[in-house]
Amino acid sequence: MTTSDTASQKSASATFVPAMTEIARAAGALLMQYFGRVTIEYKGEADLVTAADRASEKLIRERIQRLWPSHDILGEEEGLVDTGSDYRWFIDPLDGTTNFAHGFPVFCVSMGLEYKKRRIAGVVYDPTREEIFSAEQGTGAFLNGQPIQVSKTAKLSGSLLATGFPSNKRHHNPNIHFYHQITLRTHGVRRAGSAALDLCYVACGRFDGFWEFNLNPWDTAAGVMIVEEAGGRVSDYQGRYYPTDGRETMASNGLIHEALIQEFAEIFAGRGLEPLPDPRTPRS
Ligand code: IPD
Ligand code: CA
Ligand code: CA
Repeated sequence: MTTSDTASQKSASATFVPAMTEIARAAGALLMQYFGRVTIEYKGEADLVTAADRASEKLIRERIQRLWPSHDILGEEEGLVDTGSDYRWFIDPLDGTTNFAHGFPVFCVSMGLEYKKRRIAGVVYDPTREEIFSAEQGTGAFLNGQPIQVSKTAKLSGSLLATGFPSNKRHHNPNIHFYHQITLRTHGVRRAGSAALDLCYVACGRFDGFWEFNLNPWDTAAGVMIVEEAGGRVSDYQGRYYPTDGRETMASNGLIHEALIQEFAEIFAGRGLEPLPDPRTPRS
């Protein structure tokens, strides 16, 4: 641990959320200046990036480094600065880049913080709705300062879920099959295009659950903390502890979690691999 980590140790029990909120708001305001005016660039075949992603990350990094110079930072666009600190930030400067680049108003700024590999704080800001989701370890979760809680939906059959699909290597991703199967057993599955917001929507009860394969820590670090503090559950697809670098993200209100795990076990075992019905058949 570095000297300034020791110095800021006291503040670890104090609150990070006010400063994080200020930074996320500033980054969100910056995103809005670019919204509707960006040129799409490509990181991969269907993996988009824009000047807004880079400008937002630059702003966030500068502000974190000013306040907490010794902390490690992992950001989607600039990678990892590792100083050996016990604190590590996970930054997605623009979660929902594809939406943003197409003018679809579902995107956010996501900032998560870990201390000794344990999640301690998370803030997600949606500048289009001016919604700030936040949580700190042991203090509950909030939306614009008001406490939030996960939904009370107890049955999978009555739930509304969310998922996402990766930008790259889509052809290797089995999620379309899971999407199909879970859609048949719930009120529906939404794919809005921002994993961090999907998680926050589980936290405040707009969704009852969410899953996605192969997310990155900058997508999930804040949202997972917010779901857990809102009384929800986050695990891998077998119900085990969800680490920051987890590749299987399953979040829910807790009440439908076991049913979802059971669904996944059956789908992994091959359920529903029979041919799809002809979608042109008229509905009766
Ligand atoms: C993406 C979004 C999307 C999810 C993708 C992510 P990005 O993040 O969170 O909802 O389905 O897997 O990569 O690239 O917009 O920051
Ligand atoms: Ca992301
Ligand atoms: Ca991003």
